[in-house]
Amino acid sequence: MYLIANWKMYLSQKDALKLAKQVAATDISSSVDFVLCPSATAIAAVGEIVKKKVALGGQDAFWGEEGAYTGEISCKRLKELGCRYVILGHSERRQYAGETNDVVYKKLMAARRSGLTPILCVGESKKERESGGAVAAITRQLTEALEGISIGEREKLIVAYEPVWAIGTGDACTPQDAARMKDEMKRIMNTKRRGGACPVLYGGSVDESNVVEYTTSGGFDGVLVGGASTKIKSLQGMMEQLS
Ligand code: PGA
Repeated sequence: MYLIANWKMYLSQKDALKLAKQVAATDISSSVDFVLCPSATAIAAVGEIVKKKVALGGQDAFWGEEGAYTGEISCKRLKELGCRYVILGHSERRQYAGETNDVVYKKLMAARRSGLTPILCVGESKKERESGGAVAAITRQLTEALEGISIGEREKLIVAYEPVWAIGTGDACTPQDAARMKDEMKRIMNTKRRGGACPVLYGGSVDESNVVEYTTSGGFDGVLVGGASTKIKSLQGMMEQLS
């Protein structure tokens, strides 16, 4: 069961290290695949604190490996810092950094080349949902990002359903609605013979009060959590619920 903590840009260096120490002192059940995704500036120091106890991930990565790309961080560099995972195509990247499905595809390819496990995020906006275009939106995101990913490669991916309107709003998608979208995602990935067997996570206003609904009645393989993962009590609560 995956519990992926996306700390986004919430924490100062000092607060990230404090939280990392609290995580290091927490019992992590062997039934939970716990992945910590701090800001890039904190990955190395957080890694020193949590050591091998916790897997690390980047929140994004560039598609180039190295060279004249001012300000970018490649998968290779994330690996050097001890990362095993990388979040790609998060809706905040799509919204604030203008990432298109084409860019996400290039990043996925780069992650595969480097050996990082990509956590591919897809999800519809409120407008798309209200106009009945939710399935079309995730279909586009999945097919364009997974173009050319062979069946043999698909199990190395993780896919997250993150409805944009549920992220950071407290307005979580119900497990039943989310499960319907998960089934659509599996159908899209299977019919296109892409991404068929990979784990599917839910993300969007998950906390210790609702986490277990997504993995039980929702049938998800885990969760991707933002805000609630930056508070130790919530993080420990979610860990307990998933154990
Ligand atoms: P949230 O964010 O848990 O704060 O809603 C989820 C995410 O963006 O991955």
